[in-house]
Amino acid sequence: MSSPATKSDIQAFWKALYDSLYEDVDRGLTRDALLSAIDDLEDMFRLRRHMAVVEMPLAELKGKRVLEIGPGAGGHSALFARHGAIMTSVDLTAARARATNAKFRLLGALAEGCQALQGDAEALPFPDGAFDIVYSNGVLHHTLDTEKAISEVYRVLKPGGKAVILLYCKSSWHYWINMVLPVGLLQGQLFRDRDWLGKATEWGGKNRQSVANPITRCYTRSGIEALFGRFQGVAMRKGEFYWYLVPKLGRLYRKYQIKKYGTHPGGVLVYGEPWPIQSPMELKLGELMGFAWYVSATKPA
Ligand SMILES: C[S@@+](CC[C@H](N)C(=O)[O-])C[C@H]1O[C@@H](n2cnc3c(N)ncnc32)[C@H](O)[C@@H]1O
Repeated sequence: MSSPATKSDIQAFWKALYDSLYEDVDRGLTRDALLSAIDDLEDMFRLRRHMAVVEMPLAELKGKRVLEIGPGAGGHSALFARHGAIMTSVDLTAARARATNAKFRLLGALAEGCQALQGDAEALPFPDGAFDIVYSNGVLHHTLDTEKAISEVYRVLKPGGKAVILLYCKSSWHYWINMVLPVGLLQGQLFRDRDWLGKATEWGGKNRQSVANPITRCYTRSGIEALFGRFQGVAMRKGEFYWYLVPKLGRLYRKYQIKKYGTHPGGVLVYGEPWPIQSPMELKLGELMGFAWYVSATKPA
């Protein structure tokens, strides 16, 4: 068994992934290119029915205080700033907070009052009730203490404020068929390594993976209900199913998919490359057995 992960392991992994995925995209990014990439991103999210455009009330963001936890390279934060939100973005990895800040700077007056800083979801450096909305896409299942992070989300929300959070879904095809079966059982990682799921997820960088992803957790519906127990109006839906994630065969499918459905430029800002457009069947399967729980919940007023 490997030793338990530390915060520095988590920072090292996400820094390595940043260097591999985003550094080239961010180098030389201009204001015009960023504005057009944000439009593409919004369009891509609409095609995918992503929570950034479904659960997030884009039309009502103007003047709202929004916290994003784990902005990564800052694409989502830039989108919300573009819609008038006063963004605060906190990432454990300094390179990612810098990349997000650089995007706010490029947006200039459009991102007035927006800032990104290095900080930890488990100990947010803000007073109680500071934000109207807390948003986090695919982050809190990678931290050491997810319960603590969700209690911090609750604390920093204003009464009546909204949490919009993506967490990985255990009752999904990706968890059981793409990970538990080939990696957990057939490779035996389930019996060897307490953090095997971390190692089975995330790397999409263009370079060879040199640093392991320390932690990934997946949740059942009741697990999400328990995590958000203090909130009210907890709603969750599934999304995100991709045939190309199937081990081995997925590569072939990806070639076919790109040929048939094409790619969307909206992927560049958040994945460092265009996104292979999902087939209608994949979108439907996402609702039934996707790897994402899109969760929205309100702090009681
Ligand atoms: C999968 S990436 C998601 C990035 C972005 N939300 C997106 O969807 O493109 C996870 C991000 O969470 C950050 N992170 C991990 N643990 C964190 C923590 N405890 N507090 C704040 N950020 C954290 C990582 O540095 C990384 O940028």
